[in-house]
Amino acid sequence: MALLFSSQGDDADLWRHNMATELPDLDFRVWTPDGQDIGDANDIEYALVWKPRKGALKEFQNLKAIFSLGAGVDHLAGADLPKGVPVVRLVDRGLTQGMSEYVAYWVLHHHRRFDAYADMIAENGWQRLAQKDAHGRRVGIMGLGVLGRDALEKLKPFEFDLAGWSRTPKTIPGVKSFAGEDGLQEFLKRTEILVCLLPLTPETTSIINAQTLALLPEGAYLINAARGGHVVDNDLIEALDSGHIGGATLDVFHTEPLPDDHPFRAHPKVHLTPHIASITMPETAARAVADNIRRIRKGEPPEPVVDPETGY
Ligand code: NAP
Ligand code: GLV
Repeated sequence: MALLFSSQGDDADLWRHNMATELPDLDFRVWTPDGQDIGDANDIEYALVWKPRKGALKEFQNLKAIFSLGAGVDHLAGADLPKGVPVVRLVDRGLTQGMSEYVAYWVLHHHRRFDAYADMIAENGWQRLAQKDAHGRRVGIMGLGVLGRDALEKLKPFEFDLAGWSRTPKTIPGVKSFAGEDGLQEFLKRTEILVCLLPLTPETTSIINAQTLALLPEGAYLINAARGGHVVDNDLIEALDSGHIGGATLDVFHTEPLPDDHPFRAHPKVHLTPHIASITMPETAARAVADNIRRIRKGEPPEPVVDPETGY
């Protein structure tokens, strides 16, 4: 019984250590680019991967589950995975908490006008700016899944006027919920601080574009912590330059690392972070993966399994 591990980072030793603590009987095999360390391919029952080579996982005949090293699974879309093997998203306390920290930090940053204060101080200014009451600050999250819902819960103590948008309708106490294409316009029209926490699927690709940005109120702020493919970059730059969008915090990009000459790099209204809104930490995530392996061993399905129809 073995787990095949393949990541883009240098965290194999930490994963090995944490998986051994959880499941001492599970052999941990690191998949190097030359495929050297994996031993007998028939031993491999689980794969824990970020971006496997196209078709490469088909080699493992006894594979019972493919675990994503992240919450998102869009990176697996072109991987030509073996049919019938469940693909499991990462749902983990540490990952969820990290995202809520990121969202809360940037929502508060914008709500309290810290960019305007930084600009003023840089010019030797010293004055108070008008401050909006949190009760009137309309914050909206696109995506009411594991991450979106937790971020909303963490924002509740600040008493913002909260809303969310999802594919299927939701009832969340203290949150105005909008759903589907019909609900999108109304949701955007009321949203001053927009947070994107959607999965990247054919339906959500380029969802933040000239038309949707135009629906946001003048001066609205965007926080994209989901995937770069949600945003039409040129449309966002035009909306920022026209002043319709007041600013943006972007963590994810069409190409990562963000190219040196990308216009976001030097844009005065854009804050950039290098895809760190939430970081998978083996210390907490190994428990989530191990729990699912324990479920499979008991004959129960792992969760959450990606629905091939919706792509998330
Ligand atoms: P999740 O639990 O699967 O939730 C996805 C949410 O998006 C659900 O509420 C879903 O609606 C909604 N949705 C999907 N398609 C939609 C559509 N066409 N229209 C409207 N709503 C739609 O996902 P999650 O765990 O919260 O993660 C969300 C994403 O965050 C991941 O896919 C990943 O790309 C990103 N992420 C980024 C980082 C980072 O560091 N930047 C870290 C972790 C995750 P229903 O509830 O109706 O199904
Ligand atoms: C990171 O981007 C993730 O999907 O967990």
